[in-house]
Amino acid sequence: MKHRYQRVRGTYDILPEDLLLYLKAEETARTMMKLRGYKEIRLPTFEEAGLFIHATGETTDIVEKEMYTFKDKKERQLALRPEGTPGVVRAYLENALNTAFPVSKFCYTGPMFRYERPQGGRRREFFQSGCEYFGNPHPVADAELILLMNDIYASLGISGLIIEINSIGCPECRANYRSQLLAFLNSNKTQLCADCNTRIEKNPLRALDCKLDREKFVNLNAPVISKALCADCAGHFAALQSLLQEAKVPFTVNPYIVRGLDYYTKTVFEAKVQGSDAICAGGRYDGLIKLAGGEETPAVGFAMGVDRTVNLLRAKTAPEAKTPPVFIVIQQEEKIIKNAFLLANSLAGNNIAVAGPYPDKSFKAQLRLADSAGSKYTLILGENEINSGSVTLKDMAGKTQETVKQEDIINRLKSGV
Ligand code: HAM
Repeated sequence: MKHRYQRVRGTYDILPEDLLLYLKAEETARTMMKLRGYKEIRLPTFEEAGLFIHATGETTDIVEKEMYTFKDKKERQLALRPEGTPGVVRAYLENALNTAFPVSKFCYTGPMFRYERPQGGRRREFFQSGCEYFGNPHPVADAELILLMNDIYASLGISGLIIEINSIGCPECRANYRSQLLAFLNSNKTQLCADCNTRIEKNPLRALDCKLDREKFVNLNAPVISKALCADCAGHFAALQSLLQEAKVPFTVNPYIVRGLDYYTKTVFEAKVQGSDAICAGGRYDGLIKLAGGEETPAVGFAMGVDRTVNLLRAKTAPEAKTPPVFIVIQQEEKIIKNAFLLANSLAGNNIAVAGPYPDKSFKAQLRLADSAGSKYTLILGENEINSGSVTLKDMAGKTQETVKQEDIINRLKSGV
C-alpha cells in the first residue's frame, strides 16, 4: 500500500529560496564572529542526556518538558541537543582546549531540538548560530558580545533591534533574593499557574520565566533580582552599561529578564524587534565550566535564533530572482548536446547562473521556455553555430541578437550580465 509521509509537527523543509536567507544569516554571523576571534566548531547533535540535565538545569522547562530523550541500543540515555552551550563546554573540557591562553572563543551553527508547542517562531527543530567566550570575567567580554550581536543584525539590515539586558547576580545575590521572591510567590499562589506553584518548591527563580505567568509578574510588581545584587555584581552590571553607552549600543534594562536556563550568572540579555519573540539571547555563566568538571572559568555567550532572524529577513527581502540570467537553447543533435553541456559547465564554473540544455524538448519548446523563464539572455546553439565555433546571444529584453565566438562568450556575458 502506498503511503505519503508528512514532515513531523514542528519541523520544516527549508526550500531553496528560503535557504538563501538562512545561509545569509548564518554566514553573516560566522564572518562577524570570526573577525572577533571566535573559532568555529561543529559538535554532535546528540549527547548524554545527563549533560543537559546537569548544565541547562533539571528544573528548567527545556529539560523538564522539552527535551527529546531516547535510549540507544546499549540502553544509554541520550538527548538531541536542546541548545549548544553545554556541548561546547563538554568539548572544551574533553579536548583540553583550555590550554589556549588567555581566553578561548568558539562559534557554531546547527540544529537544536525542543519539544515545544509549535506556533509562530517556535519550532521543534530550529537553528542557532552561537558563540561562547571563555576566560574573561570582565564586563568588556559581555559588552563585546552585545556589540557583536548588534553588529550582526545591523549588517543583516534588520533595523529597530531592541536589546534588553539585566543582571541576575551570583549565587550569593540569589540566596538573598530567594526569600523575597518566595514571599511574593506564596502570597500570590492562587493567581499563578500549576507549574509556577511547583516551581515555588523546586526553583522559584524559574517562575519568572514562565511562558504563562511572565506578564503577571510585571503587573503584580514582583520583586526583581537586580535590586538585590551584591556589590561585586552591581559594579559589574554598572560597568557593562557604561561600556555599552560608550559604544553607543542602544539598550534598555529589563529587570524581569531572567532567562530559562539555570547556568546564568550576572549578565543576561535578549534581542527582539517590535512584536517579535526573542531573536537572539545569551548571558554570562561563570559557574558552568566548573560544574562540568573543569577549573573555575568565567564564560559568556549568546545564540542567534536563525529561523526567527530569517522570518525578519524574509519580510524585508525581495524574493531572489528565480531564473538564472542565461538560458541555453539547442537543436536536438548529439554533438550539439555535448557542446551545450560543456558550455553550461564552463558558464557555471565562471559564476554565471545557467539553465539548460534540455535536449528532451523540441527546439520550439525550449524557445518558449526561455521566453517564459524571464532569463536575461538566451544562448542558441544549432548546426551553424557549432560549425563556426560560435553561439547566438539573444538579449531577451532588447530582443536583439548577435553572434559571439564561443571563446569570447564568458567575457561578453560577464560584461553584460
Ligand atoms: P535560548 O534563549 O534558549 O538560549 O535560545 C536562543 C535563541 O534561539 C532564542 O532567542 C530564539 O531566537 C531561538 N530559539 C529558542 N527556542 C526556539 C524554538 N523552539 N524555535 C525557534 N527558535 C528558538 C540558548 O539556547 C543559550 N544556549 C544561548 C547562550 C549561549 N547563552 C550563552 N551562550
